[in-house]
Amino acid sequence: MTDDQLADAARRFGTPLYVYDLNKVRRQVARLREALPGARLHYAVKANPSRALLRLLSSAGLGAEVITLGELERAHRGGFPSRRLLVSGPGQDELLIERALELEVGLVSLDGISQWRLWRPFIEERVRQAPATTALPRFLVRVNPQIDPGTHPHLATGAPISKFGSTPAEARVLATELRTNGLLAGFHFHIGSQISSVDAYRLLGDLCSELRDEFPDADLLDLGGGYAVPGFPLAEFAEFATALAENLGLELLLEPGRYLVADAGVLLTSVRHLKAGPVRHVIVDAGMADLLRPALYGAAHPVRRLGDGGSDTHARTADLDGPLCENADRLAAAISLPVDLKPGDLLVVGETGAYGMAMASNYASSLRPAEAIFDGDELRLVRSRETVEDLMRLELE
Ligand code: LLP
Repeated sequence: MTDDQLADAARRFGTPLYVYDLNKVRRQVARLREALPGARLHYAVKANPSRALLRLLSSAGLGAEVITLGELERAHRGGFPSRRLLVSGPGQDELLIERALELEVGLVSLDGISQWRLWRPFIEERVRQAPATTALPRFLVRVNPQIDPGTHPHLATGAPISKFGSTPAEARVLATELRTNGLLAGFHFHIGSQISSVDAYRLLGDLCSELRDEFPDADLLDLGGGYAVPGFPLAEFAEFATALAENLGLELLLEPGRYLVADAGVLLTSVRHLKAGPVRHVIVDAGMADLLRPALYGAAHPVRRLGDGGSDTHARTADLDGPLCENADRLAAAISLPVDLKPGDLLVVGETGAYGMAMASNYASSLRPAEAIFDGDELRLVRSRETVEDLMRLELE
């Protein structure tokens, strides 16, 4: 996407606007496939559930990882065959289970024994109703390996204090029960997100081989997602993960979210006001309701003025603030912005294709941004900007 193309998108569809470059997503798919030719890839839909991206990824042959009824439905409508769907997450409920069974999803990751207690009667009922024709899911047991993945505490899902997965001891009990029922596919780890070193994944090696010895009939090893953007050492990870799976004689499954889409997306926002003072404030039309990551994780996204090509010799330090009424409503703190910035200028907030629009909210009755894609040079709006009517739609008298 050139700056002229992005300017054109902002002119046609307004700001704030998320724009995704499909060719960049295709490139990331190719990179992963090249590095990990033996792995099954299931896109973590939570990173960006835009139908345009789901269609691209499903037709590229990927599977999807979903955690809610909404994500399951989106993945289904986005073209993923049910057998390539993996249902996971810590809060599975009856509605999700019923729909997953109706669609005949291929895999389910169980967070703990209590989840299996919820699933079991539904499975038994299905077997009773249609013993010959029903395609049951196979089950992964999510293990909490109790390690520090060295990422932001909010994202450290493999840490001992995190709610995810079962202790290795409970996982063994659950896996034994699943094996008895002929439903055990293997074990699932997702140790965190925005992880930039392979060291944390290496810590899984011993536990994986112990479980392999104890459950020789398991055939899948799911190492989750978590690959940082930017800066994930993919080749080193691929070497480790491939060797681990090969040594254990397991098929490798991975759940990349951010890695596939983060760098394919930018958020375009317009400068509204400039304020001098102890800190220079640049107030733009996008804030924490549109991009929550800086407020929630202190995430630093690259910001530049459209047309500057990233190089600016007369930069001055400023905070990039949103339009809402709290200090956390900030897209970036103490960054360099051009000294001649003026209202109406367009800024590009980079690496926002993952967990950008996906986490946008209506806080302060903000209207969520529109989304557009570039497929090559072709620009298309794929989601309209919300309207005030959308805000009111579900309210009752
Ligand atoms: N698999 C499971 C079970 C997950 O929970 C997640 C993400 C993924 C795969 C994909 O992880 P990824 O490859 O995208 O790192 N909102 C946060 C990220 C939360 C990730 C939650 N789980 C952020 O904006 O950084």
